[in-house]
Amino acid sequence: MGALALAALLASPLAWSHGSVTPQAVDIKDLERLGDDWREENPYRDHPQQELAIDIGARAYNSNCAACHGLEAKSGGIAPDLRELENGAWGDEWFKELVTNGAERNGRVLMPRMSDYVSQEGLWAIRTWLETVSMETTGQ
Ligand code: HEC
Repeated sequence: MGALALAALLASPLAWSHGSVTPQAVDIKDLERLGDDWREENPYRDHPQQELAIDIGARAYNSNCAACHGLEAKSGGIAPDLRELENGAWGDEWFKELVTNGAERNGRVLMPRMSDYVSQEGLWAIRTWLETVSMETTGQ
C-alpha cells in the first residue's frame, strides 16, 4: 500500500463501508450501573428496570446499530438480521463477544468494537430490546 493510501486510511477511522455511522451517546442515567466488568448474561432481563432498558435500547439501537443491521433489526442484507439472535444465555454470550470485539475479516473491519462507543449499560439495553423483536419472541 502506498504511503498516501495509508495516510487516507488513518485519517478516517470511522470510514465504515456502509455509509458513515456517528455513534451516539446513550442516555442511561436511570438504569442500574454495571461497573467495568462485562457481564456474561443480560443483567436487565427479568430485572425491575427491564421495561426502561427496552425503551432505552430501542433508541440506542436506532442511533448506533440500525445503519448496518437495519431498522427494527430487519437486516437489509448488509449485516446479519439480529432478530435471529437466540434469546437467553447463549445469545447473550455471542452478543457480548461481538459488541466487545467487533468483527473483522482479512484485516477489514466489518463491525467496529461497539463497546468503544456505547457503554455496557447501553449495549445490554439494546440486547434487552432485541429480545422483544426476536423471531423466537414474535414467532416469526
Ligand atoms: C459498520 C456496520 C455495523 C455496525 C455499526 C454494527 N454492526 Fe453488528 N455486525 C456487522 C457485520 C458486518 C456483522 C457480521 C460480522 C461477520 O460476519 O463476521 C455484524 C455482526 C453482529 C452480531 C453477530 C450476529 C450474528 O448473527 O452472528 C451482533 C450480535 C451484532 N453485530 C451486534 C451489533 C450491535 C448491538 C450494534 C450496535 C451497538 C452493531 N452490531 C453495530 C456490522 C455492523
